[in-house]
Amino acid sequence: MTKPEFNEQSPVPVDRETDFAARERIAIIGMGAMGKRVLATLHARGIKARQLSCLVPAHEADALNMQSIKIEVFHDVASLVSWNPTLCVECAGHAAVDEAVIPLLERGVDAIVVSVGALASAPLREKINCAMTLGNSELTLVSGAVGGIDALRAARMGGLDSVRYTGRKPPHAWRGSPAEVQFDMLTIDKPTVIFEGTAGESARLFPKNANVTAAIALAGIGFERTTVTMMADPGVDQNVHEIEAVGAFGRLSIRLENNPLPDNPRTSWLAAMSIEDAVIRRLEHSI
Ligand SMILES: NC(=O)c1ccc[n+]([C@@H]2O[C@H](COP(=O)([O-])OP(=O)(O)OC[C@H]3O[C@@H](n4cnc5c(N)ncnc54)[C@H](O)[C@@H]3O)[C@@H](O)[C@H]2O)c1
Repeated sequence: MTKPEFNEQSPVPVDRETDFAARERIAIIGMGAMGKRVLATLHARGIKARQLSCLVPAHEADALNMQSIKIEVFHDVASLVSWNPTLCVECAGHAAVDEAVIPLLERGVDAIVVSVGALASAPLREKINCAMTLGNSELTLVSGAVGGIDALRAARMGGLDSVRYTGRKPPHAWRGSPAEVQFDMLTIDKPTVIFEGTAGESARLFPKNANVTAAIALAGIGFERTTVTMMADPGVDQNVHEIEAVGAFGRLSIRLENNPLPDNPRTSWLAAMSIEDAVIRRLEHSI
């Protein structure tokens, strides 16, 4: 907690951090495993329930009534806008970036987005840029389930020669993906490459894995120059992400072994933590 500051016009100490945080009105888009966790964390950090709202599909309203933290619930963007949010926190999936985040950016609401894979679409990136210009608003992408995004972004200033991502998951975690057309996930008994190509191709073919590859591509050398290997590996029981980059800066090599979010085995806990950190940092830095 920062110390209260003296405002020169007033002899009374002004705790500007608390003051700013008190003015924020935060709308969480999507109340699945991640959205619920973000809500609980913000509330535990002292954000009042009246400063929090959520946007959820109408069929989920009943389930939300069971929640102990009572917040305003909206089912359409227009009603949410009339609540005057200052920030929206997207925890809902790729489609919600287009359907909810863009209209909110257009209306001057800043956004923190975790479904980074949506930005694999160049037309959507263009729409986001236009929305931010129109609304004079800001979008923050979180690093999500991976790390080293800051280092990649810095390294590209000096020029990056290559960026390679390798993702490993246990075979059962690839069930329902296009890899099942070619491989029988029940019989894979050794590390097996199920996809090799560019980040652009992988985002189109494996949209559920696009959040990580898009974050790396956007920070580094783009979707067409970032190479991606995906492996079904019976030797791992976590989602393992490896990033290797070479450039004028030197060499980067990072490996993350991510535990799942307790409420959603498909989502890395680190991804939820990264969005919580982004919101908390906004509240603390805006003094
Ligand atoms: N950046 C990363 O590394 C990373 C990692 C994991 C997940 N994610 C993203 O986070 C999202 C949320 O993860 P989760 O574990 O909470 O998923 P989840 O499936 O538990 O919850 C998603 C919720 O969003 C709701 N929803 C969908 N579309 C909506 C819309 N247009 N408006 C409002 N609500 C909507 C769904 O009904 C659901 O309740 C994922 O869809 C994924 O895109 C990102």
